[in-house]
Amino acid sequence: METRIETENLSWTVHSLPDDNSDFDPEKMESMALSHLQAARSAALLAYAPYSKFRVGASVEAEKGGESRRFSGCNVENASYGATMCAERVAIFSAVAADFRNFSLLALSTLDSADQASLSARSPCGLCRQVMSEFFSDQTVILIDGGKDDAGRDCVDITTIDIVLPWRFSL
Ligand code: THU
Repeated sequence: METRIETENLSWTVHSLPDDNSDFDPEKMESMALSHLQAARSAALLAYAPYSKFRVGASVEAEKGGESRRFSGCNVENASYGATMCAERVAIFSAVAADFRNFSLLALSTLDSADQASLSARSPCGLCRQVMSEFFSDQTVILIDGGKDDAGRDCVDITTIDIVLPWRFSL
């Protein structure tokens, strides 16, 4: 079940909200969401995707000891195909490698299929979902770029790891 929310500059499709959503305010979150969406789209422009020609970008917000920092990633393909790395994992691993493991948000943009594409064509792959589940909590916001609607408004899907990967494996 999903609901639609309109804020000044963003159309939200809400699939799930952070666990402690009592003070979730889309108006307040709009500028943060838009800037991470923009960062994910910019990251996608750096994709190395000569084989699939499918450019993906991700932007994460991660914290360490009260400091919050942004990391981005793009997909990096390989002639072997199997050695390809997804944008989300590049962003998440960059944050972890910088000792920032406390993730508050991930924004994902499949630049070449964003506009009004089905959610499945814009969603993270299974491997990335498993990596997210290693580091994300119920408080981590996952934003999926929906591109522009007919009116030229930016669209985003908002969800959390419980929806993206239910019944997940963890130790
Ligand atoms: N890709 C990502 O970067 N993230 C995903 O979650 C889905 C797939 C990349 C991998 C490959 O370079 C291209 O998209 C086509 O699968």
